[in-house]
Amino acid sequence: MATKKSVTQQSISSVLSEERLFPPPDGFSERNSIGNARALARLRTQAAANPVAFWEEQAQRITWRKPWRRALQWKHPHAQWFVGGKLNAAENCLDRHLDSWVRTKAALIWEGEDASQRTLTYQQLHAEVCRCAHALQAYGIQPGDVVAIYMGMVPEAVIAMLACARIGATHTVVFGGFSSDALRDRINDSNAVCLITQDVAFRRGAEVDLYSAAATALKKTPSIRNVLVVQRSPLQRRLKPGRDEWWHQAVARHEGSHAAQAFDAEHPLFILYTSGSTGKPKGICHTTGGYMVHVATTMDYVFDISPRDVYFCTADVGWITGHSYIVYGPLSQGATVLMYEGAPNYPGPDRFWDIIARHRVSIFYTAPTAIRAFMKWGEQWPKRHDLSSLRLLGTVGEPINPEAWMWYHRVIGQGRCPIVDTWWQTETGGIMIAPIPGITPTKPGTATMPLPGIVVDVVRKDGTSCKANEGGLLVVQHPWPGMLRTVHGDDERYRQTYWSDFPKARGREGWYFTGDGARRDADGYVWIMGRVDDVVNVSGHRLGTAEVESALVSHPLVAEAAVVARPDVVKGNALVAFVTLKAGAGTDDIDALRTTLRNHVAVEIGHIAKPDDVRFAEALPKTRSGKIMRRLLREIVSGGTVSGDTTTLEDFSVLEALRAGEE
Ligand code: PRX
Repeated sequence: MATKKSVTQQSISSVLSEERLFPPPDGFSERNSIGNARALARLRTQAAANPVAFWEEQAQRITWRKPWRRALQWKHPHAQWFVGGKLNAAENCLDRHLDSWVRTKAALIWEGEDASQRTLTYQQLHAEVCRCAHALQAYGIQPGDVVAIYMGMVPEAVIAMLACARIGATHTVVFGGFSSDALRDRINDSNAVCLITQDVAFRRGAEVDLYSAAATALKKTPSIRNVLVVQRSPLQRRLKPGRDEWWHQAVARHEGSHAAQAFDAEHPLFILYTSGSTGKPKGICHTTGGYMVHVATTMDYVFDISPRDVYFCTADVGWITGHSYIVYGPLSQGATVLMYEGAPNYPGPDRFWDIIARHRVSIFYTAPTAIRAFMKWGEQWPKRHDLSSLRLLGTVGEPINPEAWMWYHRVIGQGRCPIVDTWWQTETGGIMIAPIPGITPTKPGTATMPLPGIVVDVVRKDGTSCKANEGGLLVVQHPWPGMLRTVHGDDERYRQTYWSDFPKARGREGWYFTGDGARRDADGYVWIMGRVDDVVNVSGHRLGTAEVESALVSHPLVAEAAVVARPDVVKGNALVAFVTLKAGAGTDDIDALRTTLRNHVAVEIGHIAKPDDVRFAEALPKTRSGKIMRRLLREIVSGGTVSGDTTTLEDFSVLEALRAGEE
């Protein structure tokens, strides 16, 4: 069944106002390849006048084996970029660095949770990728075949992805925290012929038995012919003969060089599954040329990356952030990528700060949910370490509450580092809305403005543009190179989900609907108000629940908050806030605290947004990528039972505890 987001007639009331403005720190802009504010304004004007010409210019960043004939072929809603061009994505991440000094510097610095370390130079990473590429070809894997990767954060995950890209196989990485059922469904939907996995992964000191989970899935995945298993633990285990093979044995048979074939710009690079608000996961399909151009461009413009940086992105390779900003983006730019295997609080809550200090990390990219956890653990942890190597901070994944932004800026960035709040999606492939560090003045809580070459608007249901500060729907109005091409095996779902709300009409091309509510302030900054399905109507006013959450989190006792609606006879909807408190926050008088928090929201936003109920919880239900599963909370408040899909929930006990609190 096609997923269809509901879009209502009314506009969304925006109630959060944030006045703080942070000018770019002196000296930073000299480094950025755009130069200065005037050059950026000029670039924006040129790109707005001709986005395709802008992207053609950016495409020079990539090594093409054959030039494209046509930069964009757009037959709504299907785009092809750099048509006729040929390239190899792995060659763009590796081989192109082998004839400069970058060759002998670290491409990957890996740190295991158990403190083991491995460093692979570009030259070494290239050799490993070549060996793996040969091993996959020895299995008979052909261009266009799908290879599933189910691994933790080990260098072989990156090697496997690049080896697939090198031979033209399409990878589908399944996050190592997913269950065997989820793996099975993704393998079957993608028809993968090979699985690359590992014996165990480490998480918070415990072993996660990936091989056993994979073996269970493989009982019902008839398309898989070969399984390659990385050995992470010294303990030996038996593999299934005939089908399975140890990685180290398979790659040892092959040499560290490999003649890479060039593939069409539109050759499928990967499929990545993402959950919709309902229904089965969607296999988001990305292709090669446009995607590489998009991630390479944003790595430069948004992260200001250079081969001298040590860049630490805390995402997992199983998510789009890991694909675009651990693997393809930074490696295409010759950066040094720091990859960490484990949890942020193992063995102590200062693991990240310890890593940053020891490796002299200069760019750090993480998620608001992690920042809120750091706040909860307390600033004594980062204060124990020397964070002076940091020069740029980034966030992604959800709206960042202004208070979390301020903490990140003050405690981690020590007031010195610009913060790039980056808005994008699995579907967009690369960053779409973000500041240019050193040039764009930032405001806590907004990803600021669309990048040059990206055309977005905030519109009403009828497609007319919203006024300044009027909440509406975030749309992308012109195709962009990193965009998804379709939903694997279900083009109708692709059309329905993304292109049916603003179809082609007289005088307008059809627009891509992001599913996000947003507003633009008087300076043109885009404020994401959360998913449209997280937007609720209270007494005739539509409220972005993310804004109420931000108000709650701005209270000194609150660590995290999730706000959902419960049907209410009088108001249409009543707001229920689920709140977790900071460590050590006194909770003797729960009723008094509840009243305090309700009043706090009333003061911050207004009575309209005051939650009708505030519930205190030890933890909130989250997906494995750290997003709060508001859908489950909605189901709890409107009936107490949870009937929908919970396969992406990280910790079931959280749900039990919340339900128990219901009685
Ligand atoms: O709602 C937006 C939110 O995350 C959604 C995309 O999720 P996903 O495909 O999992 O990709 C996450 C990593 C790119 C968006 O529709 N989102 C992402 N980044 C931001 C954000 N919301 C506000 N601010 C952001 N910076």
